[in-house]
Amino acid sequence: MKRDHAPVLTGDGATDYARYMRTETLLDLQRRPEQMVHRDELLFQVVHQSTELWLKLAAAELTEATTRLTAGDPAAAEPLLARAALGIRLVTDQLEMFRYLSPVDFQAMQPALGNGSGAESPGWRRVQGASRTLGRAFADHLAEQQIDLPTLRDGNPTDPVRRLAEAMLEWDERVALWRVRHYQAAIRVGGHGAAGTEGSPANVLVRLIEHRFFPELWQLRVTTAGPAGDVTHPPAS
Ligand code: HEM
Repeated sequence: MKRDHAPVLTGDGATDYARYMRTETLLDLQRRPEQMVHRDELLFQVVHQSTELWLKLAAAELTEATTRLTAGDPAAAEPLLARAALGIRLVTDQLEMFRYLSPVDFQAMQPALGNGSGAESPGWRRVQGASRTLGRAFADHLAEQQIDLPTLRDGNPTDPVRRLAEAMLEWDERVALWRVRHYQAAIRVGGHGAAGTEGSPANVLVRLIEHRFFPELWQLRVTTAGPAGDVTHPPAS
């Protein structure tokens, strides 16, 4: 039987797909060829704009995870964190596209970018704020339940709070991996300013690689009580 594709939704576009996905607006968000100072602006905008969308999703999942945790349901928070972490993995992969942007072409598009920097990314701001809020909610949950961190580390690997702690570590690591990859991309494209100078953009990026949202969870890794402390390598018996 032939499927009826006649649109039933209201909105712009000839199809329900276009109307629901708002493709006309979305595909109009990139500069047109006649506006561009360099054709690689399309590549540059697509990577950044799609990154903003994934970061929007990641921040929303982190926020919902915090809501569930605050409601006393750490088991419901964990899969949301996994989604957020996958979002960061996807935006890390997108940085690969800059392999095909040469320093000369990047320089040529500079006039179009004004003083803009990814450091002003609203998506990253949201993600950072949501991560800090989650960290506070987790600390509150531990306090309410009277759980201390070493006890959590050495306890049952299937305990929902411990699994959530593992998901938080994974999240933190994904963000750090993005930062490593972003640093390499910036260096490769030559957009890092004078290298090696104290306070240079390159140095700022290197220092940020060490940043962690949940340092106390990482600290537990180096004060481990032994193999039982690692949920990814649970004891054999
Ligand atoms: C050709 C590609 C890119 C280059 C050359 C580049 C370069 C830089 C540089 C030099 C900095 C240091 C601060 C500054 O001087 O502004 C920076 C920071 C930053 N950039 Fe990029 N960037 C690129 C792509 C991206 C993308 C796709 C994003 C995603 C939104 C992004 C997000 C950020 C963020 C969030 C920071 C703040 C540092 C941090 O939190 O780790 N950048 N970038």
